[in-house]
Amino acid sequence: MAIHKLLCNLSFIFLLFFHFGKGEIRLNYYSESCPNAEEIVKQEVISLYHKHGNTAVSWLRTLFHDCMVKSCDASILLESINGIQSEKTSTRNMGMRNFKYINTIKDALEKSCPMTVSCADIVALSARDGVVLLGGPHIEMKTGRKDSKESHLAEIDELLPNHNDSMAYVLSRFQSVGIDVEGTVALLGAHSVGRVHCANIVGRLYPTVDPTLDPNHAEYLKRRCPHPNPDPNAVEYSRNDLKTPMILDNMYYKNIMNNKGLLIVDQQLVSDPITSPFVENMATDNDYFHQQFSKALLTLSENNPLTEEDGEVRRDCRFVNSN
Ligand code: HEM
Repeated sequence: MAIHKLLCNLSFIFLLFFHFGKGEIRLNYYSESCPNAEEIVKQEVISLYHKHGNTAVSWLRTLFHDCMVKSCDASILLESINGIQSEKTSTRNMGMRNFKYINTIKDALEKSCPMTVSCADIVALSARDGVVLLGGPHIEMKTGRKDSKESHLAEIDELLPNHNDSMAYVLSRFQSVGIDVEGTVALLGAHSVGRVHCANIVGRLYPTVDPTLDPNHAEYLKRRCPHPNPDPNAVEYSRNDLKTPMILDNMYYKNIMNNKGLLIVDQQLVSDPITSPFVENMATDNDYFHQQFSKALLTLSENNPLTEEDGEVRRDCRFVNSN
């Protein structure tokens, strides 16, 4: 009897460890340490959105570029200093913007709860709240991620797909973080908002126009991008979706079905028989798109979070804490 009781107690402790173990992310992680954390992030995201609407767009891309490269650990926010080479310098991260406003959110959190809320959680929660401002679904997200003490610049090219990679490669990259074909098609629906710089488009326009591009759209894009070799620092771009550029809706799928996708990866979703059935379903049903988008973004946001010991809560999201 005593042995049975002991075993029960041990399995209870074992279960507790797995449910609330160190490094475990969970809903309302800050409920005691900083009860207003999620509300503070939300209010800052709303206020930034009203000043600079495109911040909401940026948070979404930042989550992807952070979480896809090893871990949702805010490594993308680190600046080049003290032996760290910033991920921001990677060509894959070209065009990323609004990083400075992450500090605005962090400053607001530091005022209420110093050294408590990680930058990795700010990346996740700001994306979640940005999605709502863009007309997308509300997603319950766990918190408790820790911040990395290193940059993963060297691994980016291998881990983050490029705009002209094959669909098979893109699908394998997403699969490696637990996202299936349907989820990948849904996540690329993020290209329903935001912009693409000419440097990422001209390959489809010059010297000859990509035959999979709608000819009228190609003419429009040539007006937006008149030079075959654009200066990478020039602010020359096209919006992804000309009809609802700031709404996270299924217009993206309608556009790519009409050969108006900007990137090769967008257009491949329609031409590849593995992905095209999902494109068609998402184009006809916005709620279905939102459901699949929520599910896949949640999976992405939970990719390989750092445990307490492996990470830290940065004081300033741009720098590792000095000891
Ligand atoms: C194979 C996967 C993907 C590739 C190759 C890719 C590539 C790109 C490229 C090249 C741009 C344009 C950058 C520029 O010229 O400024 C872009 C923009 C963007 N991407 Fe992706 N992307 C992918 C998936 C995703 C995912 C999964 C998300 C989020 C869930 C996302 C969110 C965004 C957003 C919001 C923008 C617009 C950014 C802005 O306007 O500031 N992308 N992406």
